[in-house]
Amino acid sequence: MRLIDALRKRRSVTRYSHKKPDWRKILRAIDYARFIPSAGNIYAIKFILVSDKEKIKKITEATQQPFVGKAHFIVVVTSDPRKLQRPYGERGKKYMCLQSGVAIGNFMAALVEFGLATKWVRFFYEDKIKRVLSIPEEISIDGIFPIGIETKLKTQAEVFPLLENIIFFDKWEQKEMTLKARVLEESL
Ligand SMILES: Cc1cc2nc3c(=O)[nH]c(=O)nc-3n(C[C@H](O)[C@H](O)[C@H](O)COP(=O)(O)O)c2cc1C
Repeated sequence: MRLIDALRKRRSVTRYSHKKPDWRKILRAIDYARFIPSAGNIYAIKFILVSDKEKIKKITEATQQPFVGKAHFIVVVTSDPRKLQRPYGERGKKYMCLQSGVAIGNFMAALVEFGLATKWVRFFYEDKIKRVLSIPEEISIDGIFPIGIETKLKTQAEVFPLLENIIFFDKWEQKEMTLKARVLEESL
């Protein structure tokens, strides 16, 4: 699959087949989360692949979202803001969030590539999840990702913003594009 097709195809999925996904595919998707830019080249994200049924049950309770418990696997994405705050102070917190978002984007696109489905879950009782997985207090949990094989295609209408509503040219709220230079055929 081409990268742009994987990005276009991605949707949140909450219904997972009884068939267990191949865990190797999940590891491969996590592998793609390594190839991201990071401030100071400091990579501060860790992934926990959870397959223990009892732990999945407890994590599901902590999210209060029953579909989470329908998956055979859950990936918990964590980040360590201290690693970016050390060199960058307060800015480091923001850098950490940005890094995490980019890594999760790669991870989610790669899941599509490997035929797997998920939904980014960010509502949960963090303390409970930390207790279940022995995650230290200082670590942030940036997402819970139940991983499964989609049972049926989602027919819900697309909710994505239109390109024209998310782009400005040359200044804030400038919606028209004004070409400043002559376009030469050989420069395209
Ligand atoms: C930071 C973040 C937090 C989210 N938290 C939840 C959540 O707790 N539960 C849930 O069902 N979906 C959650 N979502 C998924 C969004 O609801 C979903 O991406 C959105 O409705 C768009 O649908 P799509 O992913 O199919 O394009 C979250 C998404 C993001 C990016």
